[in-house]
Amino acid sequence: MSNIIVLGAQWGDEGKGKMVDLFSEKFDIVTRYQGGHNAGHTVYIGAQKYVLKLIPSGILRPGVQAVIANGVVIDPGALLTEIGTLEKAGLPVVEQLKISDRAHVIFPFHRIVEKMSEGRKDRTAIGTTSRGIGPCYEDKIGRRGIRIADLCDREIFRSLFSVLADDKKTIAEAFGIPWDLDVDALRDEYEAFAERIRPMVCDTSLLLAKAMRGGQRVLFEGAQGTMLDIDHGTYPFVTSSSAAAGGACTGAGVPPTRINGVIGISKAYITRVGGGPFPTEDHTAVGEQIRKAGKEFGAVTGRPRRCGWFDGPLLQYTAAVNGFDSLVITKLDVLDELDEIPVCVAYKLDGKVIEGMPATNDMMERIEPVYETLPGWRTPTSGATKLEDLPAAARRYLDFLAEQTGVEVGCVSVGPERNETMIIPGSKLEKLLG
Ligand code: GDP
Ligand code: IMO
Ligand code: MG
Repeated sequence: MSNIIVLGAQWGDEGKGKMVDLFSEKFDIVTRYQGGHNAGHTVYIGAQKYVLKLIPSGILRPGVQAVIANGVVIDPGALLTEIGTLEKAGLPVVEQLKISDRAHVIFPFHRIVEKMSEGRKDRTAIGTTSRGIGPCYEDKIGRRGIRIADLCDREIFRSLFSVLADDKKTIAEAFGIPWDLDVDALRDEYEAFAERIRPMVCDTSLLLAKAMRGGQRVLFEGAQGTMLDIDHGTYPFVTSSSAAAGGACTGAGVPPTRINGVIGISKAYITRVGGGPFPTEDHTAVGEQIRKAGKEFGAVTGRPRRCGWFDGPLLQYTAAVNGFDSLVITKLDVLDELDEIPVCVAYKLDGKVIEGMPATNDMMERIEPVYETLPGWRTPTSGATKLEDLPAAARRYLDFLAEQTGVEVGCVSVGPERNETMIIPGSKLEKLLG
């Protein structure tokens, strides 16, 4: 009865949504454990495209329970919009979705104070999604946040809300940020949101514990990626939550002893949205070619994603942090047209090969990647249904990625659709899926 974590091995947008949707066929419950509507998980089912932000991708499978756990930060307006979109597509969301009473609530004033740190002239902007994610987590850790359970209790909500809104107004005034909120109207709006989400709210940690005791299988869906994790990512150019595997336990309230496997999702190359160091970024026309072929534009903000080459040391690092049992390599097809493909096999700093991932932004910026260049295959791969269908050079490329990362490649994705996926027979991943 395997419970698994599926998460991003790079800087996000690795194709988690597609893979979670595919894998969720084998699970009873899919749980999101961190992040908020900064995530954009794209799933294609035939011609129908879904972009899931807060709701776990498992929602698209009839009968699969979707859980938004305590580690997630929820903008109730965004959540209700997302529910509405899925209901319009015919999905019985309210029946399938459960929301943690301990998840924290995002308010519009979180977005206002986000402008304070992002807009300061003497600080480099992170390039956030401007969804109020960071400031909401700040309030959580600062022990002044408002949780879903508080939102659902009118008396508690009113007292917490007025103090929190007052704090934020003070900050806005101190930093000269325009404050155009009608606080009373906002309170009324959130009280109305509470009534609409109340039927889905419960103690999701208890729900998961009971389900697992009863033999149900749970898939934990990460948002963002390990290099955006607050502790293990390229700080400060990270998001404000624990995207790495450890975050699944605290973020969903499940014991580590209940987790049977960790699957890392990685592109066959690498991308990043927003600011921050990116050792293997390609600034040439080839990077542009990958952006075009891979349609590398943010699912949430529409920003062009920065593109670069597969980074072996980075994957070794995220494999170590997460303990990947298996890797899924997505978007192999995006490389189909290239004559040759560089792969970073080591980092040099001040002329010397280094071990591990430097901690400071300054050192990260000074990394010189050491590349090995592999031949391309110049053949379409999207029609492949088994590994043997792939050109020899593509198979060699995948073997090389496994050698460089020290983790098996258990699955290869060659297109956005469910059926454009190969699960490798005999792999650990196949066994974990059961
Ligand atoms: P997520 O945030 O990790 O779920 O990833 P996103 O949905 O933000 O970005 C991944 C994009 O790549 C989406 O548009 C997917 O439809 C698409 N995608 C996923 N796997 C593949 C693949 O193997 N090949 C191609 N060409 N596109 C893919
Ligand atoms: P999914 O789940 C890619 C990035 C932002 C910014 C940094 C901090 O779709 O992979 P935030 O708004 O979270 O405070 O922004 O993190 N970022 C993502 N990049 N994919 C995501 O999610 C991201 N969520 C946040 O661009 O650099
Ligand atoms: Mg995304």
